[in-house]
Amino acid sequence: MTRDEALDGLSATSAHSRGQAARALANLGKAGDLARIRKALKTETVAYVHYALQDTIKRLTRRVEPQVANGDETAAVPEEVRQQIYGQAVEWVTGFLLHEIASPIGLARLSGKLELGNEWEGSATRRHLETVHRIFDAIEMLKSAAGVARPQEFDLAAMIDELIETETPQAMPWISAIGQKPFLIKGDPALIRMVIGNGLRNAVEAVEAVGTEPQPHSVTINWGEADVDYWVSVLDRGTGIVGPTETAFEVGNSTKKNHSGFGLAIARQAVETMIGVLTLEPARDGGAVYLARWQK
Ligand SMILES: Nc1ncnc2c1ncn2[C@@H]1O[C@H](COP(=O)(O)OP(=O)(O)OP(=O)(O)O)[C@@H](O)[C@H]1O
Ligand SMILES: [Mg+2]
Repeated sequence: MTRDEALDGLSATSAHSRGQAARALANLGKAGDLARIRKALKTETVAYVHYALQDTIKRLTRRVEPQVANGDETAAVPEEVRQQIYGQAVEWVTGFLLHEIASPIGLARLSGKLELGNEWEGSATRRHLETVHRIFDAIEMLKSAAGVARPQEFDLAAMIDELIETETPQAMPWISAIGQKPFLIKGDPALIRMVIGNGLRNAVEAVEAVGTEPQPHSVTINWGEADVDYWVSVLDRGTGIVGPTETAFEVGNSTKKNHSGFGLAIARQAVETMIGVLTLEPARDGGAVYLARWQK
C-alpha cells in the first residue's frame, strides 16, 4: 500500500480497510497527514480502527517532537499507569481479533454443516469449531474486562449469594459466604462479577476434582473493606495448585478438559481495570486461596 492509497483508505466503507490504512500510515504517514488522520478519528465508530488511528497519531506526533527525556523512562512509569496502558493494549488486540475472526468462524460453521450433512453432529469439525467458539467467548470476556470501569452502588453480599446460586448451584451446601450483609459498595458490578465468578468456579472445580465428598466448608468466601480498598477472598480445600501460580494466570493455561484457561487472566484484567491486585496462592492446610483487592 502506498501513502496515497492509505490516506484514501481512511474513508473506505469497510472497517477492515480503514484499519489497514490506519496501521499503514504509522509507517508511511508524514507529519503533514496528521490533520487528515485526526479528522478520520473524529468520525470513526469502530473501536479497533479508532485505536489504530490513535496509535498512528501518537507515532507520527512523536516522530516530529524532539526527544527531551533520556535515561530509563520505563522505570518512571507508575504501576497504575502501566496497568492502564496494558489494559488499553488488551482491549485493542482483543477488539481487533474479534472483529477479524467473527465472520470466518460463522462461515466455517455454515459450510461445515452444509458439506457434512448428517455427519455434522458427530464430526470432529464441529467439535473443533466448538473449541474455537469457547475461546472466542473468552476473548470477548477479556475485552470487557479491559474496558473502562463504570462504578455504581450495589450490595456485594447479595451479588455473592446470587453468583453461588447461578454459577455453582451444585456446591451450595458446601460453600460458606461469610461477611457483612448487606454490604453496600461503589464499584463496577460487571467487573466484580467476573472476578468473583472466576474465583468461585475455580474453587468449586478444584474441590470436585479431589474426588471425595465435599465438607460443609470446602469453599469459604469472605469479603470486607480497608481504608483504601475492598477485598474478596475465596479459600478452598481442593486439589491445590499444580506448578507455578503465575503460569496459571497466563492466557490459555488450563489443567482441565474442555476449558479455555482464560478465567484467571480475565479476572486479573478486571481487577487491574479497577486498579487492584489479584493473587492465587497455596492455602496453609492444602487447597488454594484467591484474593482480590481493588481501590475504593
Ligand atoms: N482454586 C484453585 N485450585 C487449584 N488450581 C487452580 C485454582 N484456580 C486455578 N487453578 C489452576 O489454574 C489453571 C488456570 O485457571 P483459569 O481459571 O485461568 O482457567 P481454567 O479454570 O482452567 O479454565 P476457564 O476458567 O477458562 O474455564 C487451572 O486450570 C488450574 O490448574
Ligand atoms: Mg477457571
